[in-house]
Amino acid sequence: MTTSIVVDNVSKTFRYQSHPTLKKVLQNRLHGSRSNETFKALDGVSFEVRQGESIGLMGLNGSGKSTLLKLVSGVMVPDDGKVLTRGRISGLIATGAGFHNELTGRENIYMNAAMLGMTKDETDSKFDDIAGFADVGRFMDTPVGNYSSGMFARLGFSVAVHVDCDIFIADEVLAVGDRPFKRKCLKRMKEIRESGITMFYVSHSAGSVKKMCDRAIVLDKGRVGFDGNVDDAIKYLHYDGDDEEPDGEEGSEDERDDALASDI
Ligand SMILES: Nc1ncnc2c1ncn2[C@@H]1O[C@H](COP(=O)(O)OP(=O)(O)O)[C@@H](O)[C@H]1O
Ligand SMILES: [Mg+2]
Repeated sequence: MTTSIVVDNVSKTFRYQSHPTLKKVLQNRLHGSRSNETFKALDGVSFEVRQGESIGLMGLNGSGKSTLLKLVSGVMVPDDGKVLTRGRISGLIATGAGFHNELTGRENIYMNAAMLGMTKDETDSKFDDIAGFADVGRFMDTPVGNYSSGMFARLGFSVAVHVDCDIFIADEVLAVGDRPFKRKCLKRMKEIRESGITMFYVSHSAGSVKKMCDRAIVLDKGRVGFDGNVDDAIKYLHYDGDDEEPDGEEGSEDERDDALASDI
């Protein structure tokens, strides 16, 4: 049994970045107090992940999921505790992260792939697959600044899924993108999971987490609220009674993702 990720008593503190009035700044100076208060986005988080496990990371907005994934992927460092990972990491943390608006889709693919550790030769050989998956058609050679948010997501996700990796991270990748693309993403993530890659999947869709993950970690205001079986995590979050809520006629976005997940 190989350990893939160790998160040991990790905390991350941020500062509230408010824009105070001039009066407030002067008052703070006079009283010698700092204008910016801090808060803990992550507070004493610990868990271990075995190679090949697929973890659903859940929790309400602002509970610290993206921050945790940034620490795991090395984009940020923790203030306290330690994060250890084994092998190459790929995935999509924020849609469009690392993309340059003035560069074309093609140029951004090379740039993004290089940032994820792919060589030029590797990218050359996978370029057609990446472009095919992104399916942005004639827009491949136009600046990505003109892309829609869905097209941005397709390009980023497409590069990420073509990197050979040991750990794959997907942070709300299905939030943008149309249904055919979502279906394609879920199918590809299922293949990634079945190939023995460790997966971290953030989603509010209970159905897709059930389908995709063996275990779920629920963050609750920066702490691990629950860690274990997916069904129990959904109960912990009260996401299981969603059907009873008066929603729009079409059902919520998450419910439609649930339906998509059951297609694949
Ligand atoms: N760079 C940052 N500076 C200040 N606050 C931040 C920063 N990144 C995240 N936060 C805050 O940390 C909390 C957790 O954010 P996040 O990890 O993005 O939550 P989630 O992904 O679960 O919705 C939120 O209150 C968010 O506003
Ligand atoms: Mg997030």
